[in-house]
Amino acid sequence: MLPFVPRNILAAHRTLCSVVASECRGAVRVNETRTVSISTTVNGMPSRRSVEPRVLLSDFLRHELELTGTHVGCEHGVCGACTVLLDGDPVRACLMLAVQAEGRSITTVEGLATAGRLHPIQQAFHESHALQCGFCTPGILMTLVAFLRDHPDAGEPAIREALSGNLCRCTGYQAMVDAVLLVVERARRVAPNRSA
Ligand code: FES
Ligand code: FES
Repeated sequence: MLPFVPRNILAAHRTLCSVVASECRGAVRVNETRTVSISTTVNGMPSRRSVEPRVLLSDFLRHELELTGTHVGCEHGVCGACTVLLDGDPVRACLMLAVQAEGRSITTVEGLATAGRLHPIQQAFHESHALQCGFCTPGILMTLVAFLRDHPDAGEPAIREALSGNLCRCTGYQAMVDAVLLVVERARRVAPNRSA
């Protein structure tokens, strides 16, 4: 049951709320009109945009640059769906402001394929059926691109550990591990004397 509140207190409360709400709206308006110019390189292309300081990198990529391959799941750094490369290192785009990318180089999943050819990890995912709904896939691919660059001879335990920071709600991890092993094996065939 709701507690009894005298009418006059209720009326005063409503008045206060409407004043606070209008002031809040005013504050938001001020922030919304203030923008900052940022320069980035996105998938090899220079980009210069004006953004509000509060805009997340994930929203900047999706809404401003229309690179919707970067997915947004949890929006607090847990699922890894929004992973992109910042100067080559994987970052959670939902945990960064777009203005923090000033002067940096960003690679999204749209930047993996070149000249109409899939990146080797994309090709291996395709062949190994390593995606189901595909929601987690862009973030996982970006994580693995950096991982394979740094660990070209990775074995299964290391691959599993690398994948552990990205959540797949379809739970298709085994096929992803198979895909990464396929990339490692193919790279070995090309350069058989590479040290393990
Ligand atoms: S949306 Fe960024 S980690 Fe989940
Ligand atoms: S393939 Fe569906 S969430 Fe990973």
